[in-house]
Amino acid sequence: MKKILITGAMGQLGSELTTILREQYGVDNVIGTDIRRPDEDSPLLAGPFEILNVLDAQNMADIVKKEKVDTIIHLAALLSATAEANPQLAWNINMGGLVNALEVARENNTQFFTPSSIGAFGPSTPKVATPQDTIQRPTTIYGVTKVSGELLCDYYFQKFGLDTRGVRFPGLIGYVTPPGGGTTDYAVDIYYDALKKGSYESYIDKGTFMDMMYMPDALDAIIQLMEADPSKLIHRNAFNISAMSFDPEMIAGEIRKHIKDFKMTYKVDPVRQGIADNWPDSIDYSAAIEEWGFKTRYNLETMTIDMLEKLRVKLSITDR
Ligand code: SER
Repeated sequence: MKKILITGAMGQLGSELTTILREQYGVDNVIGTDIRRPDEDSPLLAGPFEILNVLDAQNMADIVKKEKVDTIIHLAALLSATAEANPQLAWNINMGGLVNALEVARENNTQFFTPSSIGAFGPSTPKVATPQDTIQRPTTIYGVTKVSGELLCDYYFQKFGLDTRGVRFPGLIGYVTPPGGGTTDYAVDIYYDALKKGSYESYIDKGTFMDMMYMPDALDAIIQLMEADPSKLIHRNAFNISAMSFDPEMIAGEIRKHIKDFKMTYKVDPVRQGIADNWPDSIDYSAAIEEWGFKTRYNLETMTIDMLEKLRVKLSITDR
């Protein structure tokens, strides 16, 4: 990775990835793009930034050629709950954007990364220690686009020799940019509400386990995989990865260690609960460890300490 283009740079993952890649690869070597321009005080504007609609293949190709990009990190996509509310739009953006990005990558022979998700699994997938290679028959449009994306990326590798790599991200938890429209977002919202209100009303029911990961580990994972020796990669699109698996009661209990009177109530959203019920409880990520040395630094306990510390500063909260 020497000259990197990121789509969806204003998103939860993209905003932090752009900054960390600029630190590691040089400010001018990481071009952030998104469908609109960030606020003038956004850190994204500390380096090159272009407005790019991923459905505009010509514009994408022009930027990649002009900037002599050698790596495309394609993040622009709708998350699971938003996708379910508008399946046609989700197919158009998630698949249309991916097809354009892969074609531009092929024409310019770039390295390519795009994330898959635990959403690529479905009700017939083994729920516990979900294997790397297993049944993938998701019942959400988000999952359908993720499995199709995995297959398409593998196809571009096999057919055209394009260096495509990907991970199946679990729920990502961070304090910089909030997620939007995902099923796992509750595990971010809970920290904000714990500090602001001392309570949280969860739309995911107790006893619902999902894989999660703290953002610094997710960013490291992308860099680790993209820098990995290609001869070691047996799988490519996409690797199971995770750092922890918990249900709402467990994260609430962890928060209560720091905010003693924190209260948790439940008002289950049938749509997002239905999505979560069809995802794994915990996935097996031994292939990622074996093939490219995947490792994480944070568990539920250490993530909670760091999230609360960082959010107290961000939200200027001193009384909790
Ligand atoms: N975090 C995503 C979502 O909830 C899963 O990839 O949609």
